[in-house]
Amino acid sequence: MRVGPVPILKVANDPGTTTSWAGTAYSQQRVQPATLPNGIPLALHVGLAEVAVLADAGELEARVRFLGGRCRHRFLPTSHPRVLVVSTSPSWTDASVADLVDLSGRRAVVTGAAMGIGAAVATRLAQAGADVIIADIDARGEDTAASLRAAGLSASYQRCDITNTDDLVAVAERAVAAGGLDIWVNNAGIYPTTGPVKSVTDEFLDRMFDVNIRAQFSAAREAANRMPKGGSIVNLASIAGIRGGAGISAYTASKGAVIAMTRALGNELGPMGIRVNAIAPGIIDTPGVRAQMEPLKATGLDIDAAIAANPLRTAGHPDHIARACLFLVSGLAAFVNGVTLVVDGGATA
Ligand SMILES: NC(=O)c1ccc[n+]([C@@H]2O[C@H](COP(=O)([O-])OP(=O)(O)OC[C@H]3O[C@@H](n4cnc5c(N)ncnc54)[C@H](O)[C@@H]3O)[C@@H](O)[C@H]2O)c1
Repeated sequence: MRVGPVPILKVANDPGTTTSWAGTAYSQQRVQPATLPNGIPLALHVGLAEVAVLADAGELEARVRFLGGRCRHRFLPTSHPRVLVVSTSPSWTDASVADLVDLSGRRAVVTGAAMGIGAAVATRLAQAGADVIIADIDARGEDTAASLRAAGLSASYQRCDITNTDDLVAVAERAVAAGGLDIWVNNAGIYPTTGPVKSVTDEFLDRMFDVNIRAQFSAAREAANRMPKGGSIVNLASIAGIRGGAGISAYTASKGAVIAMTRALGNELGPMGIRVNAIAPGIIDTPGVRAQMEPLKATGLDIDAAIAANPLRTAGHPDHIARACLFLVSGLAAFVNGVTLVVDGGATA
C-alpha cells in the first residue's frame, strides 16, 4: 500500500537521548511515501542525509551498517508502532576505519573455501569478525575451518555441492538459524582446460556452465531470499571473462556471464539493500591453477614465471583476492554495487 508522510522524531546524535519521546518532540518531516511489505508505515531518519522506510528495527540497523553508518541506539516503543528513532554516526566521515571493516555479528558463507582463494577469503572475513561457513564439496573444508577456530576465529564447515540447490538451501538456512545471513561469497568454480573450440563437447559446456554460472546464479538467489535486512554478495569472475583468450573459450564464456549477472543483480537487489559485486582475479597461485599448469611443464612452461606474469612481477596470492573481497563486503564499499573489480597486478591494464 502507499503511505503518505508520517511523523518522525528528530534524530538524536547523542546516544543517551531518549527523553524527547513524549509527543511534543516529534517534528513533522516530509518523507518519501513508500510501499511496505507488511503494510506498516515505519518512517525513520537515520542521520545520513537519508530517509528510509523499512520494516523493522533489525532491518534498519543492518541497512545503516551497510550504508557505512552505525546504529548507536535504537528503540521501537510499542505505543508508537509507526515511529522508530535511531541515533547514528552524525556524518559519513565519523565512522572509523575499524568500524567500517568490522564484520562482527555478521554471518558469511564462502563457497569453495576448503582451499585456494576461498580459504583466504574465509580467513579474512573471519579475522574481520564474521562467523564464516565454509561450504565446499571437499571435506578438507573441515580442516580449514578447524585451523581458523584454532586461531580463535569463528568458522565451521558444511559439505555443499553448489550445483545442488538443496545443498545451497541447507547452507543458507544454517546461517539463518544462527541469526541471519549477511554475506555470501560465490567463490567455488572450475577451470578444466577447454582446448580448441572445434573440439569442445556439449557435455563439457554443460558442466562448465552448470558450476560456474548456473550454480552461482542459484546460490545468489537463495542467498538474496534470506537477506531481508540487506547484505552483500560477491561473485568470483575472472579476467578471462573480460578479455577472452584462445583455448579457454568455455571458461571465458562462463565468467563473462558471471560479470553480466553481477550487473543485473546489482540493479535488481540494490533497492533491497543487497549489494552485488564481482572480482575478476588475474592468475593466482592456488592448488587449482598449479594442477592445471602441471601438464604444461613438459612443454617448457615455467609455472612460477607464468603466475607472476603481470606488471608488478609478483605472483598473485589468494590473499590479494581476499583483501579485495573484504573491501567489497565492508562498509568501505558502501556505495559500490554491480561492479567487477579487477585484481590482477595490472595484467589487463
Ligand atoms: N586461481 C586463479 O588464477 C583464478 C583466476 C581467476 C578466477 N578464479 C576463480 O576463483 C575461484 C577460486 O579459484 P581457485 O583457484 O581458488 O580454485 P581451486 O581449484 O584452488 O579451489 C576451488 C575450490 O572450490 C571447490 N569446489 C569446486 N567445485 C565445487 C562445487 N561444485 N561445490 C562446492 N565446492 C566446489 C573445490 O573443492 C575447491 O576447494 C574460481 O571461481 C575460479 O574460477 C581463479
